Amino acid sequence: MSKFIKKIKIKKPDDWHVHLRDDDILKKVIKYTGKFYKRAIIMPNLDDPITNCLKSIAYRDKILKSMHVNYKFQPLMTCYLTNFTKPKELEFGFSKKIFIAAKYYPNFCTTNSKTGIKKISNITSVLECMENIGMPLLIHGEEINQNIDIYDREAKFIETTLDPLRKKFPKLKIVLEHITTKESVEYIKKNDFNYLAATITPHHLMLNRNDMFSGGIQPYLYCLPILKKNIHQKALREAISNGDKHFFLGSDTAPHLHKNKINVLGCAGIFNAPSSLLSYVKVFEEMNALKHLQSFCSENGPKFYNMPINKETITIVKKPYKIMKNIKVGRDTIVPFLSGETLNWSLENKY
Ligand code: DOR
Ligand code: ZN
Repeated sequence: MSKFIKKIKIKKPDDWHVHLRDDDILKKVIKYTGKFYKRAIIMPNLDDPITNCLKSIAYRDKILKSMHVNYKFQPLMTCYLTNFTKPKELEFGFSKKIFIAAKYYPNFCTTNSKTGIKKISNITSVLECMENIGMPLLIHGEEINQNIDIYDREAKFIETTLDPLRKKFPKLKIVLEHITTKESVEYIKKNDFNYLAATITPHHLMLNRNDMFSGGIQPYLYCLPILKKNIHQKALREAISNGDKHFFLGSDTAPHLHKNKINVLGCAGIFNAPSSLLSYVKVFEEMNALKHLQSFCSENGPKFYNMPINKETITIVKKPYKIMKNIKVGRDTIVPFLSGETLNWSLENKY
């Protein structure tokens, strides 16, 4: 059925998980998010993380100044939780909409997480406050312990941290970000949507761990949580195809300069902003589930965050869309996901 569909009109999507970075990189990457998405949750893991209201206001201003004037884009800011975050800072920031949510990075779990949380019990008063005020907690869900196999860290995190957390704070709104496993899909589904939801990236839907080693090691496919076995990829694809409202769009677009991706200690992250939306369309089409595209891209997220669904619409048409090879940033480049490849869906208008 869906292979005969040539045009799809949906409410303008939002991206509930993006990294825009700062300065030169921000200026180069921001327009891709603005082109496809009305709002985006902005991750706070800058080199100098966004840990308070003042930093957040300044960063938000920079984002808005860097955005193309034609895009009416709304950045939704988040606070990076540390062992020293003050509940009052969050309460104030949330009440004034300076912060929409707070991000929990386990210590040393990914890019710029050296000031992340060592033990979740260090932030009990912060979590109590968030539960009381209804502020969402966004989680990078991996148990960080060198003795745990990297492929098992997400499932382990559910057992050792997330499930006890849910029991201790049943009314805390939680988004388990960029889920990658069937264990996560199963766990999320059986919990109340008002309090637990998950984002899923295009790369975890399109790829599995074999792709990372296909024809040689592929540093551009290195991201965290790491790509998993095909059975997990299949579980993610099925989760979105059933239209379950627990799952929504969060691309985890994460630009890094080429030199940092191919370094001996290469950075984790996939810059997918130029192709993320059209990649999701491709997956929904392959799964014969285009009827659920709008709920995943444009409805489930706002429902979870208690925000209005966008009024504007976008039209996606069956027309080849070539992804650029790279983007110049100073003397370096950023190479996007699907660099140089062609997808068979495009936006009808340039917007
Ligand atoms: O691959 C990733 N890149 N995963 C993350 O959790 C962080 C992100 C980044 O900031 O580069
Ligand atoms: Zn991320």
